[in-house]
Amino acid sequence: MRNVAVLGAGKMGEALLSGLVKSGHPADLLCFTERHDDRAREVTERLGVRRVDVPGAAAVADTLVVAVKPQDIDALLTVLEPVIRPGTLVVSICAGLPTELYQRRLPEGTAVVRVMPNTPMLVGEAMSAISPGRHATEEHLDEVTGMLGAVGRVVRVPESQQDNVTALSGSGPAYFFYLVEAMIEAGVLLGVSRQLATELIVQSAFGAARMLRETGEHPAVLREAVTSPAGTTAMALRELEQHRTRAAITAALEAARDRSIELGKLNSK
Ligand SMILES: NC(=O)c1ccc[n+]([C@@H]2O[C@H](COP(=O)([O-])OP(=O)(O)OC[C@H]3O[C@@H](n4cnc5c(N)ncnc54)[C@H](OP(=O)(O)O)[C@@H]3O)[C@@H](O)[C@H]2O)c1
Repeated sequence: MRNVAVLGAGKMGEALLSGLVKSGHPADLLCFTERHDDRAREVTERLGVRRVDVPGAAAVADTLVVAVKPQDIDALLTVLEPVIRPGTLVVSICAGLPTELYQRRLPEGTAVVRVMPNTPMLVGEAMSAISPGRHATEEHLDEVTGMLGAVGRVVRVPESQQDNVTALSGSGPAYFFYLVEAMIEAGVLLGVSRQLATELIVQSAFGAARMLRETGEHPAVLREAVTSPAGTTAMALRELEQHRTRAAITAALEAARDRSIELGKLNSK
């Protein structure tokens, strides 16, 4: 089993470590870097994984997972460049940062895999899309697929699709949270308590998600199955159409895609 170091144990870094520990990855083959002492102590107490510094991580790790905020990448690569060992695989989960940035800043031949995960990684249900850099091999991709498989599902995409992935699944959970929030508030307006409305809507969201995944049916087919002629659902859907909800969703995803492109340019100089 490979030795994995997570650089930056924030929300995503800890979620990945936690998933790896739960899936049976030995804690002594894991370590992390973190610049806040309190935060590092918390992670070690919760997961039994040790904190190291960047040279310490580079000395032992076969795989280095970069999980700092994109704006911290420049400082991190400056420290990493002189200490990274040949043959180390670099896995970047940083939104918007191209593999080319790592290939330019790290020693020639460094294998890099770019990943766009999402926050359901915290509950082991991430959707991660992975793309190989110039020197990443099939074995490297298998390695990353295995690692991220511990915290959710994994697909391979060409790097040119990563901004689209960011708009779809990277930001995707937030759109569902927004919809659930709006439905709960509508329930309150109808006269249902917030607690009951929350239970009704969260379970409906969970059930709908499971139906989508387990039946494999197109969402339109599942929707039609609950839309009887002149029934309650039909009336609700007419309102959604009249308020151009579908067009709003398309515009929202285009805006997320454009912002991802913009942030990538800003942080990868
Ligand atoms: N959250 C999401 O929905 C999501 C989804 C997909 C991808 N991502 C990507 O995942 C990455 C991490 O996101 P996050 O939400 O987990 O961020 P986060 O909670 O801010 O975690 C990053 C952690 O790394 C620390 N750090 C920064 N530079 C460091 C260094 N040189 N050495 C050691 N530790 C360092 C940060 O400290 P400070 O607090 O001092 O900055 C922070 O504790 C980001 O690049 C983001 O683009 C996030």
